[in-house]
Amino acid sequence: MAAIKTIGVLTSGGDAPGMNAAIRAVTRSAIYNGMKVKGIFRGYKGLIEDEIVDLETHDVSNIIHHGGTILKTARCKEFKTVEGRQRAYENIKKHGIDALIVIGGDGSLSGARQFASEFDFPVVGLPGTIDNDLSGTDHTIGYDTALNTIMWCVDRIRDTASSHERLFFIEVMGREAGFLALYGALAGGAEAAIIPEISTEVDQLAELIQNGFRESKNSAIVLVAESPVTGGAMDLAERVRKEFPQYDVRVTILGHLQRGGTPTAQDRILASRMGAAAIDALLEGQRNIMIGDDDERIIYVPLSKAIRKDKTIDREILEKLKHLSK
Ligand code: ADP
Ligand code: F6P
Repeated sequence: MAAIKTIGVLTSGGDAPGMNAAIRAVTRSAIYNGMKVKGIFRGYKGLIEDEIVDLETHDVSNIIHHGGTILKTARCKEFKTVEGRQRAYENIKKHGIDALIVIGGDGSLSGARQFASEFDFPVVGLPGTIDNDLSGTDHTIGYDTALNTIMWCVDRIRDTASSHERLFFIEVMGREAGFLALYGALAGGAEAAIIPEISTEVDQLAELIQNGFRESKNSAIVLVAESPVTGGAMDLAERVRKEFPQYDVRVTILGHLQRGGTPTAQDRILASRMGAAAIDALLEGQRNIMIGDDDERIIYVPLSKAIRKDKTIDREILEKLKHLSK
């Protein structure tokens, strides 16, 4: 196997707090190990359009505490075509890049896997998404920060919900996954979470809400994961309003504020460990893997497994929510 002298690094898909810490760790670890680093702007778009620059140690100074990504990010339809990936490969060769580090979510890592197999090219993925929906890793970079942001928002909504004795539906991101909704509900002390992995009918929901109201309080907060399966918070609120007009219902959609902000210590640590591990993995001859964490340990996960969309959610937590909110 040829020695890796130059690596390329890019961020792709939805940005996530901690991506900068990951870029910093990748860059500094690579340089420490005698490699050159190329930063690729705007994810796969920049790879296709040749937006590639040298990254030196000082280029990643003072970024560990910033959300977003200094390399910018994008979604790129062209990379889903053979022609697009061919152009990307030509630019990789032009810049003498021997291995690629892709920081992104399941779409980005699906693209990475496709590229790696098509061109027999070494790729290492880092799980960078607030959704926490990559398999084979307990946490993704950005998830903890987003969760803390959600908790912060729920705390504030609780003040007004309890003052007005209202029922609030709060919609959170997560694409097809309910991690942010479920654990956001647990951290925020919400009455219920509606997530795509577990179906909740309106009558079940009403029971949960009534329990909350009856037992000890006159307000309730329900976190709803955005998803065609849950129908989202607006849809759910409309159904509840029709069937239970006694409740004064309000909806808050948290939206993109969940994606920004200073990364938490946990995300910075995870990103730093994973970024360094990506370089270690390449030096060990690992190819086409994602760096994951399993009970605090860094592990190597085949890309094919990481993108399988089969990460399980702990159903018991949903039960516990019921008991804890009574
Ligand atoms: P995320 O990585 O956050 O899940 P997306 O799903 O939007 O975000 O994917 C980011 C980018 O990854 C896409 O815009 C596209 O360029 C690339 N991508 C996604 N899926 C594939 C695929 N199956 N083949 C090639 N490239 C892909
Ligand atoms: O994957 C991250 C994510 O924030 C999802 O939770 C959400 O569904 C999506 O990206 C939103 O994408 P965009 O920023 O393109 O609206």
